[in-house]
Amino acid sequence: MRVDVVSIFPEYLAPLELSLIGKARQDGLLDLHVHDLRAFTTDRHRTVDDTPYGGGAGMVMKAEPWAQALSSIAEKRPEGPGKPVLIVPSPAGERFTQALAYELAEEKHLAFACGRYEGIDERVIEWAHEHFTVRPVSLGDYVLNGGEVAVLAMVEAIGRLLPGVVGNPESLVEESHSDGLLEYPVYTKPSVWREREVPPVLLSGNHGKIAQWRRHEQFRRTAERRPDLLEAFDAGKLPRADRTALQDLGYVVVNGRLQPRPARPEEQQD
Ligand code: ADE
Repeated sequence: MRVDVVSIFPEYLAPLELSLIGKARQDGLLDLHVHDLRAFTTDRHRTVDDTPYGGGAGMVMKAEPWAQALSSIAEKRPEGPGKPVLIVPSPAGERFTQALAYELAEEKHLAFACGRYEGIDERVIEWAHEHFTVRPVSLGDYVLNGGEVAVLAMVEAIGRLLPGVVGNPESLVEESHSDGLLEYPVYTKPSVWREREVPPVLLSGNHGKIAQWRRHEQFRRTAERRPDLLEAFDAGKLPRADRTALQDLGYVVVNGRLQPRPARPEEQQD
């Protein structure tokens, strides 16, 4: 996969030289290029921003340097059909999820446009549709100072899904969000640490029981921390053991979806 990132702070992307992503680059699995937006300016001051039309606080990124940068990237598209995908990190974008990471990991060429200040002149985003599939993407419902931190997160989440990047692909299967649930808790030696024991089932050697316990823990954690995920979970074809576990946690399956079970009379508050 080829990835191009444009930023006025290219040094911000230096961590992409480290760890698994850095290794993926060295191994030729990820062809990542970071570009300085100012290299595409033509004035003496290398200006990238100006005041907003209509007034208001802050500055807006100028269209022309972006158009120059993005045109040069579009020309670098590896052979193949379709357009490269241009991701514009923005708190006003669609949410970045594991599902979107999997989708983007299938692409041959991704470009990321890191905005700063109040954002990029909207006409660039419109114009970019001629050369790219454009997707404004948000990391979450909070505001960062610019797109760089969001790009670090997205490139790591996408890059680790590329074939060969993570040594044991099975670890991708069992992690949080891979099946719409949070991951079960994990433990390692010693079996007793500061008087705290590892759950005995994990020492039993009974693989069926262990799998069942882990599944139950996934449901328990998800119910406690992310009930929104449980309500979006496809519960259409759950095995009986899963349904029982969910019932214990106060959920019932209605039309293939999980719903909090109405309180039993003895549980009513008043
Ligand atoms: N830029 C500023 N805030 C952002 C966010 N929440 N997600 C992605 N890019 C951003």
